Formats: sequence, C-alpha cells, structure tokens
Amino acid sequence: MSEQNGKVIIITGGASGIGKETALQLSDLGATIVIADYNEEGARKLASEIEAGGGTAGAYKVDVSKGDEIKALIDWTVEKYGTLSGIFNNAGIGLVKPFLEMDPESYHRVIDVDQHSVYYGMYYGAKKMVELNVQGTIVNTASIYGSIAAVGSFNYNAAKAAVVMMSKSGALELAEHGIRVVGVAPGFIDTPILGDDKAMKDALATQHMRGELIQPEKVASVVTFLFSDAASAVNGSTIAVDDGFLS
Ligand code: NAI
Repeated sequence: MSEQNGKVIIITGGASGIGKETALQLSDLGATIVIADYNEEGARKLASEIEAGGGTAGAYKVDVSKGDEIKALIDWTVEKYGTLSGIFNNAGIGLVKPFLEMDPESYHRVIDVDQHSVYYGMYYGAKKMVELNVQGTIVNTASIYGSIAAVGSFNYNAAKAAVVMMSKSGALELAEHGIRVVGVAPGFIDTPILGDDKAMKDALATQHMRGELIQPEKVASVVTFLFSDAASAVNGSTIAVDDGFLS
C-alpha cells in the first residue's frame, strides 16, 4: 500500500459505516480527511478522534443531494487544506418499498441521494482537480444491487446501476487529465443502514460465502487501496467486495 501523505481526500457519508472506517484507514496512512456528512455531530466527533490521534481531519455538514452544497464543500476543502487529491462519493440511503408503492417522492429521494450526489461529487471534484492540475482519484460506492434486482429496491437498484456506469463513463473522459474513477460494490455490510431487524440480517448473512455480514473495515481497505498509487491500473471498474455474494 502506498503512502497517502500530503493527500487531501473528501469522504461523503464519512460519519458512519464504510465512510468512517475509510476515514480512519486513510488518515492512518497520512491523508488529510474531510468528513462530509449530513450528521454533523458524528462528523465532528470522528474528526476530533482523528486529530486526537495525531491525524488531520475536518468536518463539514453537507446534504449530498444538493449540488450547490457539494460545490461549496469542495471549495471549502481547497481553501482550508490547499488541494484536493480525492473524493469518495459514498453517502447513501435505502428506502425499501414494493414497486406499486414506489411513489415519485420515494423514487426521487433515493435517486437524489444515491445517484445525483455521485454526479455532483464527480463533476465539481474533477473540475477542481483539473483547475488545480491534480491527478486525483474518485471512488464511488455502488452495490451488488447495481448488478442484480431485489424486491422493494427499484429506486436503489436504479441508482446503484447508474453509479456503476458513471464510474466507467467518467473514467473514460477524465483519463486524459490523469484522473482515475473507480467504484466499489459492497455485499451486505454490518452498518446502521441495514436497520435493527436481526432476523433479516441473519438471512442476508447466509447469502455470503462465509455466512456472515461483511465488516465495514473490509470495504474500507479496498477503497484505501483504490486511492493508492498501487491501484493506478484500476480505472473505470467497480470492484465487488461481497464475499462471493454474486458468484
Ligand atoms: P451508514 O448508514 O452507516 O452510513 C451512511 C452515511 O451517509 C451516514 O453517516 C449518513 O448520515 C450519510 N448520509 C445519508 N444521507 C446523506 C445526505 N443526504 N447527505 C450527506 N450524508 C448523508 O451506511 P453504509 O453502509 O456505510 O453506507 C455507505 C454506502 O454504502 C451507501 O452508499 C450505501 O448505499 C452503500 N452500500 C451499503 C451496503 C450495506 O450493506 N451496508 C451494501 C451496499 C452498498
């Protein structure tokens, strides 16, 4: 794993789950982290923890479904830390409903938070990197549900499938600027997004080869690798971190 010293990386949804573990791993390797989350208290708490441990981290309250807020987040980051080396477009929500109850509000909310946020992060992030002449990396969180359909997940399936293609399409156009775009497609990860229904979580766990939910640090270590120079030949791909779920 190469060094992350001197890199400045924004992590959306950084206050919890996959984003939080990624913030911890990247900061351990020397990166400056901006924890961008709707949950301002959680973001501040994690930034303080990282700083107390000798790292550098800032917290920023953002609603990723709003393009002007993502643009402001990127401007704030560069003003405060001097550059932008990477952005992890990771914040997301689920809103499970049968298709015949998938009213426009429920559909659009998930598309806005899980898909449009990724476009905003890629667009404003890449423009800033080009302006700064930085050969940066963009990592997007997709899902196994970007490849297979699930009952009650029409909105989420649509958003995550779009994220898989956005990583390919963005990589194709940004390569000439030295910017890599890649994705991760997690299986079921043991984070708050899954809720409290133990029976449901136990059933989901059995779908993985090792028969258990995946811990968020296992996704974080792949994301950390993707941000490293060792991953320079990984471009446009979305890497499954699903313990064989799709196999
Ligand atoms: P989590 O619930 O632990 O973390 C999600 C974070 O996103 C939270 O801190 C939340 O405050 C933040 N967030 C939600 N809406 C936001 C908004 N509008 N603006 C700013 N921040 C917002 O969940 P987890 O598992 O860490 O999820 C991270 C990503 O991984 C999501 O995109 C999710 O769809 C994806 N994923 C998760 C899986 C799982 O089983 N946990 C499986 C596949 C994908």
